[in-house]
Amino acid sequence: MSLLLVEGGRTLTGEIAIQGAKNSVLPILAATILNRGETVLRGCPRLRDVDTSIRILQHLGCEAHWEGEALVVDSSGLHNCGISDILMREMRSSAIFLGAILARCGQADLSYPGGCELGPRPIDLHLAGLRELGADIQEEGGRLHCQAPQMHGREIVLSLPSVGATENLMLAACGAEGTTSIYNAAREPEIEELQNYLRGCGAEISGAGTSTVTVEGGRTLHGCTYTIMPDRIVMATYLCAAASAGGEIRLLGAREGHLSTVTAALREAGCTITGDETGIALRRSGGLKSIRPVRTAPYPGFPTDAQAIVMAALLRSRGATVFEENIFTNRYRHVDELVRMGADIRVSGRVAVVTGVKRLHGAPVRATDLRGGAALCVAAIAAEGMTEISGLDHIDRGYEDITRDLSRLGAAIVRTEKEPV
Ligand code: UD1
Repeated sequence: MSLLLVEGGRTLTGEIAIQGAKNSVLPILAATILNRGETVLRGCPRLRDVDTSIRILQHLGCEAHWEGEALVVDSSGLHNCGISDILMREMRSSAIFLGAILARCGQADLSYPGGCELGPRPIDLHLAGLRELGADIQEEGGRLHCQAPQMHGREIVLSLPSVGATENLMLAACGAEGTTSIYNAAREPEIEELQNYLRGCGAEISGAGTSTVTVEGGRTLHGCTYTIMPDRIVMATYLCAAASAGGEIRLLGAREGHLSTVTAALREAGCTITGDETGIALRRSGGLKSIRPVRTAPYPGFPTDAQAIVMAALLRSRGATVFEENIFTNRYRHVDELVRMGADIRVSGRVAVVTGVKRLHGAPVRATDLRGGAALCVAAIAAEGMTEISGLDHIDRGYEDITRDLSRLGAAIVRTEKEPV
């Protein structure tokens, strides 16, 4: 079993580069199958979900290989339009391949992605939108059999600004004849990145970043070279780590604009944050104070992915901070683990109240989901003594090497193997 051993109490200093964004590269990897050429993705993070996407692409008949930090995908040989149950289950965002396969092949056969550790993860909006474009989708024993020999552009109104549904429909609409408008679309930066990649391939898409995305379908797409944006949640994690431990760090390549709700929260808590075109710096010398309620919401609201991480940074703040989780039903599983380290957190439904404590102490804790796991690292580097973090599979899904990054910033953190007892 892999464990992270963190000896808390050191302040952080130094600078590191930020890895490419997981939530941007995954939809772009699905999008590569819309063209019959070669895509070169620079700054592609090396993550388990990226490996799973590569295996899905290879399973479909595409060629994919690494050239240094670039991932090269050649989708000219795609010949399969089904994804096995095993591959579908390995990655929650595998559903994003559905729209792309339909656009390329006119049919698709894959399994229903189940729920996940954050609660149910329905794809009803994805399926309803695809049906509006003309897809016939039959659900049978957890498999989705989809036929869409001819899709037509439509006006689609999403009842929620779902990130996954917006992406899936953008991809499908590239293969539909005519104009598709997606209303109440998600506005996350990763949607804009998907639009930018598709435009690089010759697609006609506009409006990403606003609530209406318009796609002129039916264009023949070609490959392109694209650089993956820096990961805004990884950036939030390391800013919160420095806020938690104290010190001064600089994150190269990070863009504050994508994370202004998180930097506003950290400033309110007492951190000094400055940004320019090369990156972003955070300094924390005195103690932190509590902040106004943090309510997660679709972008440009406070990201659900940063809820646990900011909570961990505020565990030793003066006063009480209220958190309200509005996106997922089961996103406080890190709380019990943080409480083991001496945190004072009360949860009631979607609300959690964090009352700052004087000190945290090391403890054996377990990552229960990706960002909850990162939150344990943020708390551990500010805790007295040794914290032993298990459940690293979750953390590995989103962080290329959190041990490398935090130790470059001065944290005492090592990864080790231990026989389970
Ligand atoms: C969500 C986050 C995204 C984050 C990602 C990874 C939001 C709005 N989205 O994206 O920022 O990067 O997790 O953690 O914060 N829903 C339905 N039916 C659907 C699709 C979604 O009811 O067909 C609901 C979900 O249950 C959820 C909400 O809509 O409550 C947002 O889901 P969605 O944006 O699709 O989630 P992700 O794409 O996973």
